[in-house]
Amino acid sequence: MILLSGSVLDCSTSLYIPVESPLISKETLSTLQKGRAIYINKCASCHTLYLPEKYSTTQWKLQTVRMAKKAKLTTQEEELIFRYLTKNGSSNPR
Ligand code: HEC
Repeated sequence: MILLSGSVLDCSTSLYIPVESPLISKETLSTLQKGRAIYINKCASCHTLYLPEKYSTTQWKLQTVRMAKKAKLTTQEEELIFRYLTKNGSSNPR
C-alpha cells in the first residue's frame, strides 16, 4: 500500500510511532515516545522533519550534536531525540 512507503507524505505522519512489544522494555518505550514528541516539537521550526531511516546511527550522532545547538536542546533532550531517531541506537548501524 502506498501509505507504507512514507516517501510522499507529510513527515510527521510517516515518523514511526513506538509501540509496546515484548522486545523492548517499558523504559525504552517511554524513552522513544518522549524522543518522538521532542523531535516533532523542537526540530520542525526551521525545516521539515527528516525521517529516522534517512541517516545511519553515526550520521544521526553528528546531526543531533550539530542541531542540538540550533534548537537549544538540553543534553537530556538531545539524548532522547537521538534514541528515537536511531531506534534506541540500534538502527542502520554503519
Ligand atoms: C534554528 C533552526 C534549526 C533548528 C531548530 C533545527 N535545524 Fe536542522 N538544520 C538547520 C539548517 C539551517 C540546516 C541546513 C544547513 C546545515 O546542514 O547546517 C539544517 C539541516 C539539518 C539536517 C540535514 C543535514 C545534512 O546535511 O544532511 C538534519 C538531519 C537536521 N537539520 C536535523 C535537525 C534536528 C534533529 C533538529 C532538532 C534537534 C534540528 N535539525 C533543528 C536549522 C535548524
